[in-house]
Amino acid sequence: MRVCSLLAVASTALWQTHALPANKLKCAKSSLDLDPYPHKSKITFKEDGTFKITVFSDLHYGENPWDDWGPIQDINSTTLISAVLADEKPDYIVLNGDLITGENTFRENSTLLIDEIMAPVNAAKIPFSSTHGNHDNEANITHTEEIERELLVAPLSYTRVAPPGIGGEDGPGTYWVPVYTKATDCTPSLILWFFDSRGGFSLGPDSHAVPDWVDSSVAGWIESETQAMNTVWGSAKDRGAIAFVHIPPHAIQAIQETLNSTSNPGLNDDFLGSGSTQDSAAVGNDQPFWDSLNANVKNLHAVISGHDHGNEWCAREPTKNVIFCFDKHSGYGGYSSAGWGYGVRNIILSSPDPSKGVETWIRLQDGTTRARVTLDANYS
Ligand SMILES: *[C@@H]1O[C@H](CO)[C@@H](O)[C@H](O)[C@H]1NC(C)=O
Ligand SMILES: *[C@@H]1O[C@H](CO)[C@@H](O)[C@H](O)[C@H]1NC(C)=O
Ligand SMILES: *[C@@H]1O[C@H](CO)[C@@H](O)[C@H](O)[C@H]1NC(C)=O
Ligand SMILES: *[C@@H]1O[C@H](CO)[C@@H](O)[C@H](O)[C@H]1NC(C)=O
Repeated sequence: MRVCSLLAVASTALWQTHALPANKLKCAKSSLDLDPYPHKSKITFKEDGTFKITVFSDLHYGENPWDDWGPIQDINSTTLISAVLADEKPDYIVLNGDLITGENTFRENSTLLIDEIMAPVNAAKIPFSSTHGNHDNEANITHTEEIERELLVAPLSYTRVAPPGIGGEDGPGTYWVPVYTKATDCTPSLILWFFDSRGGFSLGPDSHAVPDWVDSSVAGWIESETQAMNTVWGSAKDRGAIAFVHIPPHAIQAIQETLNSTSNPGLNDDFLGSGSTQDSAAVGNDQPFWDSLNANVKNLHAVISGHDHGNEWCAREPTKNVIFCFDKHSGYGGYSSAGWGYGVRNIILSSPDPSKGVETWIRLQDGTTRARVTLDANYS
């Protein structure tokens, strides 16, 4: 027994050395220690200095499996994902919440819907990660179960969970992903932040409503993570950031009245009222998160949310001087309206230099584009 377990330890160590990707071998130990993905390849900008992200949102797989139209919707959504990825060829994919309409799923097979979503994503062989939404927490499915299933079936998933105690009830999916200028760099030039805005209902027959905002425990975590980055990688002034969270922060609600179709183009068909932003019950619950994000994450190009299928605009949030953008409803499931269509938000960083602007626009399934804006210091 003893010999066996020693052998097991030795072979694990050997495996780990071998598993370290070649592009990480030369980095200092402190840098490797901070790397959340020691055994995965680094995500990098292209050689021409650009980095493109395609965001799918509100896929809503699994509606009414007992009817014809639900499964046909999902086939349509899979066709959309495949067609868009073949055209856009992004460097990174984000699935920004409400992957599944959990109200309609069955206890014994709800995670099979994750397999359906991952099929076209895996086929594209592009790294990606997910946030989760209010419909991903229901009596028969949880954010945790979706994440575990994704990690099991999708080798290029960079989705993670927050450390124990961070994220609040049913909000495990808070993490960050480093992006490097070149594969030989040991210090990233861009951090993609992902936050779990929870919502929906807890698991099981006695299911109760889950708070629909990023838990206040995330505020301190953002502070400690950014401090660790500054210590190991140096000043944040050379690092850009983009944040993704399914439900828009509460502060976004007030901007809707000030939109201008020139600087804030795109659909504006969903009124932001109760339930449309985080913290639908009482104002202020997501304020610790919002304050900490904006105080600690430097060079934040934008905060990106889904949830409101009829909105596509970007706008500057004046109290924090940060740009917010809605996604594009991507799934045939979930509520929709004539003329809204289905598509994605594309984001292109023109350079790893965080002072350079970011271009973003909505692309519909048929290739039509709209609502193109450049997010920089001069934006709106
Ligand atoms: C599936 O997509 C086709 C167009 O490709 C559309 O005509 C049809 O209504 C869609 N069906 C469902 C159930 O979404
Ligand atoms: C959950 O799954 C069970 C067992 O598959 C099913 O009976 C039930 O209708 C599902 N939905 C809800 C909301 O409980
Ligand atoms: C899950 O099981 C239900 C009930 O048997 C079935 O209607 C549904 O199609 C199944 N869903 C998946 C994703 O396999
Ligand atoms: C809308 O924005 C454009 C471009 O920023 C600006 O020129 C125009 O004056 C704005 N219109 C209103 C009504 O504020």
